Amino acid sequence: MKKLLVLDFGSQYTQLIARRLREMGVFTIILPFHSWETAMDPDIGAIILSGGPSSVLEKDAPMIPADFFDIQKPMLGICYGMQLMAKLMGGRVTPSTSREYGKTTVAITENKGLFAKEVPDALKVWMSHGDIVEQVPDEFIVTARSHNGLNAAIQHKTRPVFALQFHPEVSHTQAGSQILKNFAFNIANMRADWSMDVFLEQQHQELVRQVNPGDRVLIAVSGGVDSSVAAALLGRLLPGQVTGVFVDNGLLRKDEAGQVRAAFEGFRGMDLNIIDASEQFLDELTGVTDPEKKRKIIGRVFFDVFKEFARNHGPFRFLAQGTLYPDVIESQSVRGPSHTIKSHHNVGGLPKDLGFELLEPLRELFKDEVRHLGRRLGLPDTMVDRQPFPGPGLAVRVLGELTADKLRVAREADAIFNEELAKQPFYDRIWQSFAVLVPVRTVGVMGDARTYEWVVALRAVESLDAMTAEVFDIPTALLADIARKIIGEVRGANRVVYDVSSKPPGTIEWE
Ligand code: XMP
Repeated sequence: MKKLLVLDFGSQYTQLIARRLREMGVFTIILPFHSWETAMDPDIGAIILSGGPSSVLEKDAPMIPADFFDIQKPMLGICYGMQLMAKLMGGRVTPSTSREYGKTTVAITENKGLFAKEVPDALKVWMSHGDIVEQVPDEFIVTARSHNGLNAAIQHKTRPVFALQFHPEVSHTQAGSQILKNFAFNIANMRADWSMDVFLEQQHQELVRQVNPGDRVLIAVSGGVDSSVAAALLGRLLPGQVTGVFVDNGLLRKDEAGQVRAAFEGFRGMDLNIIDASEQFLDELTGVTDPEKKRKIIGRVFFDVFKEFARNHGPFRFLAQGTLYPDVIESQSVRGPSHTIKSHHNVGGLPKDLGFELLEPLRELFKDEVRHLGRRLGLPDTMVDRQPFPGPGLAVRVLGELTADKLRVAREADAIFNEELAKQPFYDRIWQSFAVLVPVRTVGVMGDARTYEWVVALRAVESLDAMTAEVFDIPTALLADIARKIIGEVRGANRVVYDVSSKPPGTIEWE
């Protein structure tokens, strides 16, 4: 099977290029630009050079050798990729006097190559660049111009080498997917042969190679999408060899352990162990108010419980983790891991030195592909479409010191809030929605009696990657209904407020 290689020059859109192509069935991989030699591998059928934040005019700009373009394979440069191509092939790149950012219109001047099929003559496109290709290399022609008259697309006169100043991978670019399709299928003759069936078959072969019939595999299941799909996949491909551990830390959402148990009931290939360690966690957390201390304690207790299980039920040769392709890309990223949220959040929670070999069966997949695979393996939608949930769970949603009673209030309020939201058509647009117990008592009145109870804050946000977030606009009437329900049904809460802070300057969680 031929792969399409995206060489990454640091653009925030690089992963989007690969996702678009994979959606079309083209098996696409991403490597940092300095791994350019991989382009020579016989299984690489075409190459895309991504955009990036640098300028080719800078001294330390990410570079590849000029003779890279002699590789006789179809190539497409996007934004920085175009400027690099132009510069290295003899054109002239200069800083632009009219910086184009955002939506721009371009006119196609030559209906060939990338624009040969089903692309209108005028396009609204997404631009984001400081430099321009002022003079195209001799062997190139211009195939599109922006309304400012700048060169927006070029192509080689004789070879399948193309470049775009705009971003076809961004959804704001009209016919962007069609342009990528034209490149992948009409120009590069790639085949749409990447599918979940192919993935399953490849994984099977890979696992048979790596894991012997007698080896045992341990996996920590958190209830989240990634670890659940990884566990289900391994259970399917290595039946009888996989042991799953779900640690109930007492900080979970309502009935979460039950849902995990139910989801895996049909999976005979995996032996799921649910360990109720909630007392141990709560004991260790008693009297602790500092959020970072809470996180550390939860990490340590989880590790202790997990290690003890492994000792008592071992030996295990492998530890499996639900690492996804974005983590893999980020860990080798040209921008470095500091640009990723994963460096401080949602990390697996297990130290690397447990003494197991690692299995990461999802390391080639994007999140949407993992969801797709989960459904394919028979996991319920409620699990596959789940909102992200922080490792420390309700411990960072009950502010300050935890007690079993405060946890109950947060858990019950959270369940009501999400139950009601789930009935709304907009629920799948919400990134996270949850309740926070604010440890402040306020005065209320119920029946004839005065109450003096906790405040519950509700939070719902829209986000793409948790790096930034906007408040989700829930109609006030619906919020009031939900508040009434929470105050009526959850003992200990007599006031509900809605958090309208965005991130930044707020964070998604309150602690
Ligand atoms: P913040 O609150 O920083 O959260 O805006 C960003 C995302 O990370 C999640 N989060 C965590 N996940 N361990 C985790 O596994 C943590 O300690 C943690 N803290 C926050 C949060 O739910 C949001 O999705």
